[in-house]
Amino acid sequence: MTVSDKLPAPDTIAQQHSEQLLALIQQKIVDAGGKISFAEYMQLCLYAPGLGYYSAGSYKLGQKGDFTTAPEISPLFSRTLAHHVNDVFQQLKKKDILEFGAGSGKMAADILTELSVLQALPDYYYIIETSADLRQRQQQTISSRIPHLAEKVVWLDKMPHQFVGVVLANEVCDAMPVHCLRFKDGKVSERHIESDDSKLQWCDGSLSHSHLAHRAAEIKSLIDSDSNYITEINLSAEAWLASLAENIQQGAIFIIDYGYPQSSYYHPQRTSGTLMCYFQHQGHDNPLILQGLQDITAHVDFTALAQSAVDNGLQVAGFQSQADFLLAGGITELNHSFSHDGLALMQQASQIKRLTLPSEMGENFKVLSLTKDIDHLLPRLQLGDRRYSL
Ligand SMILES: C[S@@+](CC[C@H](N)C(=O)[O-])C[C@H]1O[C@@H](n2cnc3c(N)ncnc32)[C@H](O)[C@@H]1O
Repeated sequence: MTVSDKLPAPDTIAQQHSEQLLALIQQKIVDAGGKISFAEYMQLCLYAPGLGYYSAGSYKLGQKGDFTTAPEISPLFSRTLAHHVNDVFQQLKKKDILEFGAGSGKMAADILTELSVLQALPDYYYIIETSADLRQRQQQTISSRIPHLAEKVVWLDKMPHQFVGVVLANEVCDAMPVHCLRFKDGKVSERHIESDDSKLQWCDGSLSHSHLAHRAAEIKSLIDSDSNYITEINLSAEAWLASLAENIQQGAIFIIDYGYPQSSYYHPQRTSGTLMCYFQHQGHDNPLILQGLQDITAHVDFTALAQSAVDNGLQVAGFQSQADFLLAGGITELNHSFSHDGLALMQQASQIKRLTLPSEMGENFKVLSLTKDIDHLLPRLQLGDRRYSL
């Protein structure tokens, strides 16, 4: 039985859509002389204009979609995050928020709601979203959930210069295309995608990007490079963070995602990497099927992000599990202030469990907090701080 046999079958329209994207990918492979890097393949699967998973109309997030994120599980996640944002606001003259990849727009609506309660509303809540389809969904969420605050929310196409405020990115870095490497017999190669009889398959080739050789040498020192070891490197996330650092004048960046510090990411026993695909809430590890219909992700190497931050003039102010970050932000107290209805309280308690238990999202998800020109300590970032592990 193959992976596709175990997954629900896409409907005819979805199937046709996927075939169109597959034809485009095959043309790219021909144009490139027979193969493309996995990073290029993942970029096309997720972001090819009009056809990629995030560029086209599939529902993606939430129960009707393929996966669920923390802001979709409970408004308590975003309302707690608002308390961390407010801590940073206390130290800034200008208060804006910039969210990357805002998904359904729920996180923006819930953060603004909580900041309104705290009387700490930002001047603007900017959103940068690569997906036109999700941007539309965000606009609908904002106008229906918080019409009185809608004028604060502004969509941008690129990072504003000299930004002062707080930058948020929840599950954004894991959606950026990664390069796949294979270590075998002491040598490193990059995993590419080729087409054989109109079927896509993996093949090995030389490194496609100049930065990969240096990173491969670092990884080699952590693993047994003689055995067959497959892993990923996310150069896009590092470049994204470098450009963010260049454009932020003062403030903080909270990056929330699933991932590990380098020693765990490139652990000798993690021999098949961290690539995962999601289709209708079923996770599997074959990215060469359902092009444009399934999400493809890789875990985040937080050491690489922290290094990119430091190299570009940011300070690493904290590295916590999602559980510690939310508990320090007061998620359990918020639960009680939110509602006195017994059933609602029980539902919220169960949502808090999903967000914080180590067996759920509490441990696998981490928060990397970065600052620029912030003089005073942010005390909530001290709870369970693991910067030592980066
Ligand atoms: C897994 S979804 C997470 C959505 C949302 N943050 C949430 O937690 O529900 C990834 C999001 O990141 C967006 N994205 C990916 N790369 C991006 C980039 N470079 N700039 C802005 N958005 C990006 C995608 O379009 C999508 O909205």
